[in-house]
Amino acid sequence: MQDPSRALGAAGLRSALRAGSARVPALPPPLPSRPGPRGRRPLPPFLLSSLPPSLPSPSLRRRPAPASRAAPRPCGRHSRAPGSRPWPCGGSSSVGHCHPDIVKAAHEQNQLLNTNSRYLHDNLVDYAERLSKTLPEKLCTFYFLNSGSEANDLALRLARQYTKHEDVIVLDHAYHGHLTSLIDISPYKFRNLEGQKEWVHVAPVPDTYRGLYREDHEDSVTAYADEVKNIIEHAHKRGRKIAAFFAESLPSVGGQIIPPAGYFQKVAEHVHKAGGVFIADEIQVGFGRVGKHFWAFQLQGEDFIPDIVTMGKPIGNGHPLACVATTKEIAEAFSATGVEYFNTFGGNPVSCAIGLAVLDVIEKEHLQAHATEVGNFLMKTLKEQQIKHPIIGDVRGCGLFIGVDLIKDQAERTPATAEAEDLITRYMEQSWSSSMREASTQLQTTLATQELLKYNQLAKTETSQCRKALCDSLQAGAWKFFSTTCRSKHSSLLLLFPDLRKNIFY
Ligand SMILES: Cc1ncc(COP(=O)(O)O)c(C=O)c1O
Repeated sequence: MQDPSRALGAAGLRSALRAGSARVPALPPPLPSRPGPRGRRPLPPFLLSSLPPSLPSPSLRRRPAPASRAAPRPCGRHSRAPGSRPWPCGGSSSVGHCHPDIVKAAHEQNQLLNTNSRYLHDNLVDYAERLSKTLPEKLCTFYFLNSGSEANDLALRLARQYTKHEDVIVLDHAYHGHLTSLIDISPYKFRNLEGQKEWVHVAPVPDTYRGLYREDHEDSVTAYADEVKNIIEHAHKRGRKIAAFFAESLPSVGGQIIPPAGYFQKVAEHVHKAGGVFIADEIQVGFGRVGKHFWAFQLQGEDFIPDIVTMGKPIGNGHPLACVATTKEIAEAFSATGVEYFNTFGGNPVSCAIGLAVLDVIEKEHLQAHATEVGNFLMKTLKEQQIKHPIIGDVRGCGLFIGVDLIKDQAERTPATAEAEDLITRYMEQSWSSSMREASTQLQTTLATQELLKYNQLAKTETSQCRKALCDSLQAGAWKFFSTTCRSKHSSLLLLFPDLRKNIFY
């Protein structure tokens, strides 16, 4: 194992120590050429199992280099020349493109040190500790990665290692990532390919508007959960064993679905009985998007705790960062194989600094409360429109996770596929042209990127302007203001705020 001080070079480390402003308060002593006990910081037990054994754990946090060494690069709306188009900054900037706090955190850490995760760094520990405070105590072990797909693939490995089973139950229409393993568990993708693998089982989406059991069913929770139970029984009859039930806490790709409360508890009961685990994919819906809760699975009730939670997208505000949180038991079963978890860039000091800054911004700027407020306003406004426009079959959502389901007829709820597609096209065309652009940009930047309200000192004034723009556009029947995605079969008009942002910035 290479000593980190040797990797940097002693001279390089010393000059990094001498340089810098006084912004980082606690300065550890200079790093010795071989880290001694004073340079080490003990890792909390919950982290140990996620790290390769017998590593040095020196504190590598140092003062930032002088500002002259690397000036921050202008990026996005906040530093662009007036009138110029913003730079493309990615589609998952949940706290705002180029939010100054995030840019600063990345810049400062970049000037100090970025290294692969064999070299332990305080940021990793601090970040795991901060994340653990958002989750139930049971989810106490963290693995850091670079993308949502990586996180879901690792979750699959953890589940299989722990249960010694192979099969996975997924919800119909789901998308869980681009790796081979994840295309296999993504009906949204594999239906276009060679089809379903024998170890994959597809359960119906718990959609009470258009699904198998609707709002008029006497017990849709049990009915949908029993579908999973039947799948398990059927799999057992074929000699197969269930490793995991894998689902987004709120199926987004599958149609902005809000599963009825209690469904996950019942499913978890069946899956646990079969020796499997429950994996909640929070890659799109986590980090306060639902407003009321930090994690979307919490909408199911306090008595529900997944065995594994995967995170991505908003976690790094556009920076490639992802995480898997799980229980000590699952992590221990995984490390018992002796095949250590190693990921070169996962959890590097810059990524963790960014992750910490994102959590700070969500907290400091009360973005969960903001998501609730704007989400409530949108739901109210959209429901008012629903009364006026028969094409709007359903409006559902929570916080800034909202779906608008377009239908051809009330009786059958036939999806208005062509209309939804037309709206997508019109939106794309018009949002970049004429006066519509002004209004839609305002809308998007204000509503979609929750953060910009405060970030641009816009607060209430901008909110009311934005509300007016939304109302005007809705009254004009201009559904084109909304980002839309079509489910191939159900084909709804869906409102998904990260997509709204994409339409401005790409
Ligand atoms: C629910 C869900 N899971 C996983 C992924 C994969 O994440 P990534 O694109 O970061 O690999 C996505 C991406 O769209 C997603 O929406």
